[in-house]
Amino acid sequence: MCGIVGAIAERQISAILIEGLKRLEYRGYDSAGVAVFTDNQQLQRCRRIGKVAELEQALTAAPLVGRLGIAHTRWATHGAPTEANAHPHFSANDLAVVHNGIIENHEELRARLQGLGYVFSSQTDTETIVHLLHHLQKTHADLGDALKAAVQQLHGAYGLAVISAKQPDRILAARSGSPLVIGLGIGENFLASDPLALRQVTDRFIYLEEGDIAEIRRDSLQIWDQAGQPVQRETVHYKESAEAAEKGAYRHFMLKEIHEQPKVVQRTLEDRLAADHVLIQAFGPQAAELFSQVRNVQIVACGTSYHAGMVARYWLESLTGIPCQVEVASEFRYRKVAVQPGSLFVSISQSGETADTLAALRNAKDSGYLASLAICNVGTSSLVRESDLTLLTRAGPEIGVASTKAFTTQLVGLLLLTLALGRARGTLDAAVEAQAVQALRGLPNLLEQALGMDRQIEKVAELFAEKHHTLFLGRGEQYPVAMEGALKLKEISYIHAEAYPAGELKHGPLALVDSDMPVVTVAPNNELLEKLKSNLQEVRARGGQLIVFADEEARMENGEGTLVVNMPHAHELLAPILYTLPLQLLSYHVAVLKGTDVDQPRNLAKSVTVE
Ligand code: G6P
Repeated sequence: MCGIVGAIAERQISAILIEGLKRLEYRGYDSAGVAVFTDNQQLQRCRRIGKVAELEQALTAAPLVGRLGIAHTRWATHGAPTEANAHPHFSANDLAVVHNGIIENHEELRARLQGLGYVFSSQTDTETIVHLLHHLQKTHADLGDALKAAVQQLHGAYGLAVISAKQPDRILAARSGSPLVIGLGIGENFLASDPLALRQVTDRFIYLEEGDIAEIRRDSLQIWDQAGQPVQRETVHYKESAEAAEKGAYRHFMLKEIHEQPKVVQRTLEDRLAADHVLIQAFGPQAAELFSQVRNVQIVACGTSYHAGMVARYWLESLTGIPCQVEVASEFRYRKVAVQPGSLFVSISQSGETADTLAALRNAKDSGYLASLAICNVGTSSLVRESDLTLLTRAGPEIGVASTKAFTTQLVGLLLLTLALGRARGTLDAAVEAQAVQALRGLPNLLEQALGMDRQIEKVAELFAEKHHTLFLGRGEQYPVAMEGALKLKEISYIHAEAYPAGELKHGPLALVDSDMPVVTVAPNNELLEKLKSNLQEVRARGGQLIVFADEEARMENGEGTLVVNMPHAHELLAPILYTLPLQLLSYHVAVLKGTDVDQPRNLAKSVTVE
């Protein structure tokens, strides 16, 4: 969940490293550091607690001038966010390492290395790697050989980069469980944990595979696979424009990403719809055959992606009659699961690198599932590579830690999956599918209309700025939407927010309701509307302030203590996607009013690649 950048060039590389770190800062940001082999032939480093801007300032004051370097932005796991724990870690002032992931046997390695006389200056697991490498160099003169020997002793997950003052013509890299990509230049080469970090210097990338070791020189590259054999890996041309990672005219990435939703939803639908049905091949060449055998669906995901899965359960069971279970990956991975014959394992993830989701997929492989499908935003991610089938959500890079466009595009992907499965199984009425396809075509326009309500929602946000607790209510497939609304609010405004199915109100949360606790409700015009209205009466009777996002055709009226925000009328299937937008905007404006760090909320990370 940290970020790595490396560069070897003829030009000075400090600025490239810093720019790369800034672009990766969304992954982890409690400290940052850079190590450079300077033009006066020394390995030097600079590390700072806090954001990359702190490091940049320090480097402006005391530049590190050199043509070879590695850098890191950290989200603390082993050891607090201190300067001593920040990467790069050194051994004997001539070897530097940056690392993402976790070395599980670090305690044992540390004890062994201390026995050999190594003195540790941090509490990190990473420092064991650099001392181990240093020790192994005594018997393996070549840095690459030492690294190959070192990784044999590392248990856990790593993406790492090493430079040495003794062999300053190369960067060594190793990948196992944590992504790394090499950026190809002309007479210069780069390394990063995400291509986004290098988009300002190249658009040609080579993704390292699990177990790969790479030696990157200024004008050459060598990769060895898990078995130690030299391999060629394909070069990928990155098509996304570099600007995708920039804020443009928006004050925050989150706001930019909320406003991108009509466009990216449109993109997610592209070439996946025929006139009146979903193209099953969009899920992969074997999808048609596999989908026809599906009798059950198991969805696994974390965080916001889990909420998308919960919405999908309502769609799948009601439209296709296929039973569906949804579970958070951190629970699923440690449970002995009873797998029904013909079960499709579906993982949902923005990043495709979330440790628990990946582990759940890996466990599922030996558990008798029919096949695995990844609904994911990153085509090159581990989740996608390791799944049998994939549907990419095409949301583009999402930088704000609080997920927005990734969620709505996941919902679109899951609706496509529902329609495709129903068709393949023959359980979905063709007319229902045709109507759903038509409705989906109108979705970008509907989302545009919802975004037009921004100013109105900005005013509603004022009701929340001084509050400490809120309740979100929904029924049916709007219950997970309420959960997602509550998650957004707590993530970025730090206001305690809980979501409940509206029918559960009387079973506990009603005791909390008073005039200090706003209650947010999503109320599309479906068969549960009348029931929801009576739940709302229960809140009003206790003096609670109600904020209701309601279908304009539901004829709900403003009154004392009840603020109704009218939503454009939408096909019932699209309501969970549509109603997500005002809740995102509400959280955003509350956070802005409270002055919190919208894009990088405290204690959170964009991509949780450790357990
Ligand atoms: C973190 C992020 C969330 C995200 C979750 C799952 O907690 O902050 O926004 O929903 O991880 O991530 P994934 O990449 O698997 O969707």
